[in-house]
Amino acid sequence: MFKLVFKQYKSKIPSPDLTEVINIDDCAVRGNDQQQSDNNVVQRLCISNVESLQTMPGIISPKDWRSYTLPNHPGIIVIRNPFSERGRRYWIARCLRDYPRTPNIVNLNERLFDESIRSDWWKQLSLCSDGDEFQRIKSAMRWTTFGYHHNWDTKIYDEEMQSPFPEDLNSLCRLFAQALGYSEFKPEAAIVNYYPVGSTLSGHTDHSEPNKSAPLFSFSFGQTAIFLIGGRTLEEKPTAIYLQCGDVMIMSGESRLCYHAVPRIMKIQTSANPLVIDEVVDDEKIRCNFMDKDLYHDVGDPKFWEPFSSYMADSRININVRQVLNPGELKL
Ligand code: OGA
Ligand code: MN
Repeated sequence: MFKLVFKQYKSKIPSPDLTEVINIDDCAVRGNDQQQSDNNVVQRLCISNVESLQTMPGIISPKDWRSYTLPNHPGIIVIRNPFSERGRRYWIARCLRDYPRTPNIVNLNERLFDESIRSDWWKQLSLCSDGDEFQRIKSAMRWTTFGYHHNWDTKIYDEEMQSPFPEDLNSLCRLFAQALGYSEFKPEAAIVNYYPVGSTLSGHTDHSEPNKSAPLFSFSFGQTAIFLIGGRTLEEKPTAIYLQCGDVMIMSGESRLCYHAVPRIMKIQTSANPLVIDEVVDDEKIRCNFMDKDLYHDVGDPKFWEPFSSYMADSRININVRQVLNPGELKL
């Protein structure tokens, strides 16, 4: 069932019927509509400790977050775009400019790409003046890993195979973990997925982590994805939901080991979002969350932002963060 649904949403011709894809905003606005009351597909989640949360730059007040659960998929939580425009820009720039750099690992094949590109992809892309070569380099980037590196062949994490976990992303994950009552969560491995429009991620479960009870945090930026969340086996029919720019999805509890996939990226977002100019940039909060202060300021400069904006016009980025070790363990 999972594979059939995946194929339907992936299909180019005929283009898929999207009427069953859940848009959580619609469910929220039309409070009594079918999606919410008859099938009880989406439910609003109230986060109780919003007052006590220490937020960080680029995140709107937790009081204004809209959080949802999917009663048919216990453990799935979606926080609809808790980022400000500057916040989204900051994380997009980190994912493009900084994270795919040595010592982090990238998918770029050594037979096809020079060491200079494999060690600093965005910089080499920015220097490239040949249109075809630019396109080749741009579309080849599919993932980077850091913290404990996921070995895609053995599916085993190795104590020797790791690069530092970025402190700013650590702060970001801990903020959401704290909001949901997982104050012991430790972000230890991350995969950033780059999805040019037309690319997909087929059905899988994430079970390589020795710790399978800690939640998984997933951040979406750029173009909208159709995300499929299924059950523990491929037999169960998955639910399709839109994940939009800025959405945070948490796979906790029962859903942590469920099948999921991204069959389609929809090119929807075209117009540039204006930056709120009067947003106060709190340099002290930037520092204590280990964010890159220059970058946080620079993303507000239209000229600086242009290449990032242009990349995101036909791409999606997903940051996928896991805890690897069990509580109390210091190494694998
Ligand atoms: C993954 C994953 C989902 C997404 O990286 O394991 O499931 O939304 N990503 O891109
Ligand atoms: Mn996954």
